[in-house]
Amino acid sequence: MSSKSELIISKIRNGVVIDHIPAGRALLVLRLLGISGREGFRVALVMNVESRKLGTKDIVKIEDKELTKDELNLVALVAPTATVNIIRDYEVISKFKVSIPDVIEGLLKCKNPRCITNQQREPVRNRFRVVSREPLKLVCEYCGTIHELSDIEKYFGLA
Ligand code: CTP
Ligand code: ZN
Repeated sequence: MSSKSELIISKIRNGVVIDHIPAGRALLVLRLLGISGREGFRVALVMNVESRKLGTKDIVKIEDKELTKDELNLVALVAPTATVNIIRDYEVISKFKVSIPDVIEGLLKCKNPRCITNQQREPVRNRFRVVSREPLKLVCEYCGTIHELSDIEKYFGLA
């Protein structure tokens, strides 16, 4: 395919391309993958390029990085349309869509300061259930507080 993004940014040799990210979410995706730029991975960001499926989209390309299941689950929360492409020697050797899990455990923080998962003594591992996918709504299994995309953005230092 030859979308304009191909003109903007070159192909990568080995690593992962997260494509079809909703426009404007690429920075959030990088944040939740914990990539600051200081790790030394070569990273390319494409924002607000044309997409036949989405109108506009973002793309994140990370060289020499593999994504864990937890990382894929976080990506799915904020970029449910994303396609993950695993690249080896310039070829796409695997392509799959992310899918939003039913439960997210140990990856986020409840925004209720009195929640048992936020207690200093004997903290309980946080656990959220996805109660709506569009718009995204997660409920803390311990205190019932509803979390939305904007809460995830805040948690990762954006918005
Ligand atoms: N890509 C890359 N480096 C490579 C191979 C692919 O950066 N060595 C990128 C492409 O630029 C594209 C994505 O990985 O953004 C998927 O590549 P490909 O499957 O070839 O593109 P499409 O057919 O356009 O993918 P889709 O059908 O998923 O839109
Ligand atoms: Zn809670």
